[in-house]
Amino acid sequence: MPASSLESIVSLSKRRGFVFPSSAVYGGLGSTWDYGPLGVELKNNVKRAWWRSVVHERDDMEGLDAAILMNRLVWKYSGHEATFSDPMTDCRACKTRPRADHLFVAQKGRDPKGLTEINAAISAKELKCPKCGSTDLTEARPFNLMFKTTVGAVDTGDDSGLAYLRPETAQGIFVNFGNVLDTMRRKLPFGVAQIGKAFRNEITPGNFTFRTREFEQMEIEYFVKPGDDEAAHQAWIDARTQWYVDLGMRRENLRQREQTKDELAHYAKRCVDLEYRFPMGWSELEGIANRTDFDLAAHSRGPNNPDSVEELRYFDLEQKKHIIPYVIEPSAGADRATLAFLCDAYDEALVKEPPAEETAKLRDLVQSFAKSVAKRDNLAVDVKARLTEAAEAIAAELPGSLPRLLGLSDDADANRIEVFKKVRGVSEKLGDDYTRTVLRLHPRLAPLSVAVFPLKKNEPRLVEMARGIRKELQAEGIRTVYDDTGAIGKLYRRQDEVGTPFCITVDFQSLDDGTVTVRDRDSMSQDRAPRAELQGIFRKKLR
Ligand code: GAP
Repeated sequence: MPASSLESIVSLSKRRGFVFPSSAVYGGLGSTWDYGPLGVELKNNVKRAWWRSVVHERDDMEGLDAAILMNRLVWKYSGHEATFSDPMTDCRACKTRPRADHLFVAQKGRDPKGLTEINAAISAKELKCPKCGSTDLTEARPFNLMFKTTVGAVDTGDDSGLAYLRPETAQGIFVNFGNVLDTMRRKLPFGVAQIGKAFRNEITPGNFTFRTREFEQMEIEYFVKPGDDEAAHQAWIDARTQWYVDLGMRRENLRQREQTKDELAHYAKRCVDLEYRFPMGWSELEGIANRTDFDLAAHSRGPNNPDSVEELRYFDLEQKKHIIPYVIEPSAGADRATLAFLCDAYDEALVKEPPAEETAKLRDLVQSFAKSVAKRDNLAVDVKARLTEAAEAIAAELPGSLPRLLGLSDDADANRIEVFKKVRGVSEKLGDDYTRTVLRLHPRLAPLSVAVFPLKKNEPRLVEMARGIRKELQAEGIRTVYDDTGAIGKLYRRQDEVGTPFCITVDFQSLDDGTVTVRDRDSMSQDRAPRAELQGIFRKKLR
């Protein structure tokens, strides 16, 4: 069963060192996350797989790593200073600050025609606060999403040192177009790829690492002659979709969504979003846009841009004239891709049914938890609704819903209810005995490739051989760990839970004939292989 709720993913991530809430020792900072020891390996593998596919395996691509801080004029001429904003309104009654355009769409059933129409609806009391229902809303104002900072030792109080943390990596590529073209002696078509941090002061971050204020992008700007743009665009849509599938993402959880004319940015000719079926619904994973010549023209010196010192153009030998290339932009998020791979790989199932009386006891406890939630006055309405809905659904579907219940274990709101401690105790015991969690990550993405165990940790010859194998495999660049902190069955379960595709057990036969057991995570098959052949076997399996 793939992850049906984000709770299971959040819980596993925290429990097994993938992702932790940031600065938790000081109570955290909303919607910021730190990648732990296994999370950083997974995300690095996602980024490596992307780079290999879009840079190393193609002969029409180059890489770049531009600075996060850029001249402020970049953001003036890209249009971000003027337009990269969301319209916000304040509710005078309950002091919340919802997005006014979202209120308009939800309550009037269509997109607004700009800020003026939103404000007309607010003054006519046609829009209501989504939290308390009041129509006492302030005029909507644009709220720019770029984080500001000051460059230089002295804050002069004016805007002279103002800089922004980049809200996308793309502009770093556009302003380097001439540098890459000249130094790499490129001809059209060619592209530039970049991975790096981006920052947006998102109004509504959430859904774990799906929408955060600091995130990493993996962006490509692919430059083509006007006229060749449509075919190149379609080729990138196909190639990018296939990349996710080749790395094991289920095709049925991935779809291409054509942006409607109303959604398209004013300069875009066409844009297709690759969407993933996250536990919270279909949501954007990557956008692939045909941005025409907008970006290179915007940063080129001319009547509309007296500040630029360059013309970002290309001399077309066939036409014997300068042209401004069109650009195709496949723009993906490293955090979103990592989250999607985690959700897709997550597989938690009952391996056998617990005895009926134990299930009945747990059901009673979950039902009394639901009643306690309903009686609590100090829980926010949305928290109450979420916990009640989850508890009722879980109680109705036990024991099959046991994995989902385990996913609630780390929920801070649930843990504030006294009876939940008992629910947790009983469910974790049943979970240990009757469920198996496996992350079926593609071997190339798995944080650890191989884990090596000695059958007995107090048998020095087994330990020495197991440690030796770990060292040999790691020396080959195969990410390998040694573990002797439990019985073999428990160690297999632990590695399954973090997606390690292969485990090696060194036993007494290994001492006699030099063979070890290689266990496959997905088929659970166990085959003997000579120690001397392990490097070759794994190199092939992990290719
Ligand atoms: N240069 C185009 C651009 O930045 P975008 O749709 O705003 O386009 C591209 O962002 C990708 O970056 C998204 O598809 C998503 O994967 C990722 N992304 C955007 N905002 C994000 C956020 N707040 N948190 C995490 N990922 C985000």
